[in-house]
Amino acid sequence: MTVRVGVIGAGTIGQDHIRRLSQSLSNVAVVGIADVDRARAQSIVDKTPGAHVYTTGQDLIAASEVDGVVVATWGPAHEEFVLAALEHAKPVFCEKPLAPTTDACLRIVQSEVARGQRLVQVGFMRRCDPGYLAMKAALADGKIGSPLLVHCAHRGPSSPPMFSSDMLITDSAIHEIDLMRWLLDEEIVAGTVLRPRRSSRSPADLQDPLIVLLEMQSGVLVDVEVFVNAEYGYDIRCEVVGELGTLALGDTSEIVLRHAGLRAGHVPGHWIERFVTAYDMEMQAWIDSIGTGQAVGPTAWDGYTATAVASACVTSLESGVRTPVHLESRPALYANT
Ligand SMILES: NC(=O)c1ccc[n+]([C@@H]2O[C@H](COP(=O)([O-])OP(=O)(O)OC[C@H]3O[C@@H](n4cnc5c(N)ncnc54)[C@H](O)[C@@H]3O)[C@@H](O)[C@H]2O)c1
Repeated sequence: MTVRVGVIGAGTIGQDHIRRLSQSLSNVAVVGIADVDRARAQSIVDKTPGAHVYTTGQDLIAASEVDGVVVATWGPAHEEFVLAALEHAKPVFCEKPLAPTTDACLRIVQSEVARGQRLVQVGFMRRCDPGYLAMKAALADGKIGSPLLVHCAHRGPSSPPMFSSDMLITDSAIHEIDLMRWLLDEEIVAGTVLRPRRSSRSPADLQDPLIVLLEMQSGVLVDVEVFVNAEYGYDIRCEVVGELGTLALGDTSEIVLRHAGLRAGHVPGHWIERFVTAYDMEMQAWIDSIGTGQAVGPTAWDGYTATAVASACVTSLESGVRTPVHLESRPALYANT
């Protein structure tokens, strides 16, 4: 079966998803692309045989030729398109964040619960990264005993225009927020955000870097350094400290160069490069799930929870104090996810 996909939002990640859907993955074809920037949509359609431009995302969702929808617009537009896909009973892959507010996320959750069927997969692709998968398996093995602490770093070379201090949390650290819930298999109960010395190389109105401290239900503490103008590359780190040892993400470099008295490896320049395998795997899993009719991967509930934790952290960024996370009760639809 070839799954016919429509993509709404042909920006940076939308274009990367269109490329992987049409060139790398199996049993899928991109049939439609919609973007408010119609010229951009047209330029991508011109490079995507079999696809054509839809005037609006709503038209694309309603089209009978579209089996599944990818939402890759900016965050505030996600809710409208995810709700429309649910109304048409179409599987929808929504980039993170599911929506920027907990109220918007809950409207999506309520719509999915009312249908009684999971149709939403959220783009928290790190759950498919081979390094994190190996860490999760090693934790389950019990080799390092119970986890006590996790140290994370989320560094990028430069922030895009209009990037604000709260986006270090809602856009960047939200990946660690989702990942810690998944890796440690427990909820985050509170967040505290600290403001270290600002980099003089970051835009003047940006508090960069930040330290985001997450408290897990069991008492495990997670510190996340978020530094989006780190200049030297896109560098993601994670180390779990357990009672019997530690577990860390490996070096992503394929080769180690020893030369002129130095030992060097490659640091990725962009998230597209660092997580290419994870993006491929999450998207193939979504395509396969449309074939089987059984949704997989991060749920709308996971999307809601990540936004709830990020919101608490943004409150802490503003107030400077520890902020508890408030979560609604988990609906039965998400009991085993
Ligand atoms: N999973 C990841 O690692 C990852 C990485 C990057 C971005 N993202 C997420 O993907 C989404 C898009 O990010 P991006 O970096 O590609 O942004 P972008 O600004 O490069 O692209 C967004 C595109 O959406 C279009 N758009 C906006 N509103 C629209 C609407 N109502 N209808 C149709 N098109 C609309 C814009 O014209 C633009 O082309 C964001 O939610 C972002 O957080 C996720």
